Amino acid sequence: MIDLHCHILPGLDDGARDASTALHMAWAAVHDGITDIVATPHTEDGVYRHSADEVRKAVERLQQQLLEAQVPLRLHPGSEVHIHPELIDQLRAGQIMTLGDQGRYLLLELPLRNVPRVMERIFDDLADRGITTILAHPERNLVLQEQPWRLAAWSEEYGVLAQLTAGSVTGQMGKTLQRTALSFFQSRLAHLVASDAHDLKNRRPELRAAYLKLAALDLQEAAGYRERAELILFANAGERRSFPC
Ligand SMILES: [Fe+2]
Repeated sequence: MIDLHCHILPGLDDGARDASTALHMAWAAVHDGITDIVATPHTEDGVYRHSADEVRKAVERLQQQLLEAQVPLRLHPGSEVHIHPELIDQLRAGQIMTLGDQGRYLLLELPLRNVPRVMERIFDDLADRGITTILAHPERNLVLQEQPWRLAAWSEEYGVLAQLTAGSVTGQMGKTLQRTALSFFQSRLAHLVASDAHDLKNRRPELRAAYLKLAALDLQEAAGYRERAELILFANAGERRSFPC
């Protein structure tokens, strides 16, 4: 399985606090059946800011440590970019890291309480540049909980994809979020599942339970969600790379 959203890089944000935690998170992911993680540190959220180059170097560093510890997990660079008006300028200047560093998909984080007015202009600008927006955990946004139809409109008009958190699907993050998450899937407003893992306690790097939950609810698209994550990461890469170890 591919995890497109994970805060595994040590010390870059509120995810893994050190290299040892990152290593244990990597093992937890492998035990869950995850083969690839896109490392997506928060950026531009008013607390954290990372250049694309900084993320590349941090991924190389942790990948090397995983190799030395013989952890069979591939890392890919990415970021979780908080929505902000200068986003397009920064992207043009090569300062924003897209998923897998491929310039095709951008993981975008919304505020929790509102939907900024600049939103649709950013979707439009990104689409013009051939970049598909992946919205991180829209089930947590209070406006979208009340107006989920907006996801359908964005998807239709700008090709926006909605990535829900595995813990929302399983109920680990509370019943309200689970109700919202499952209703998004049932209404076909959701396209992807990712762990959004931050640690080994409450937000672990695991996907299997969420896919099983979707399958148990007879949401047959569960396999399709897994495949979509794979296509996003590997569509341009031709054959999947073998493990570097
Ligand atoms: Fe996140």
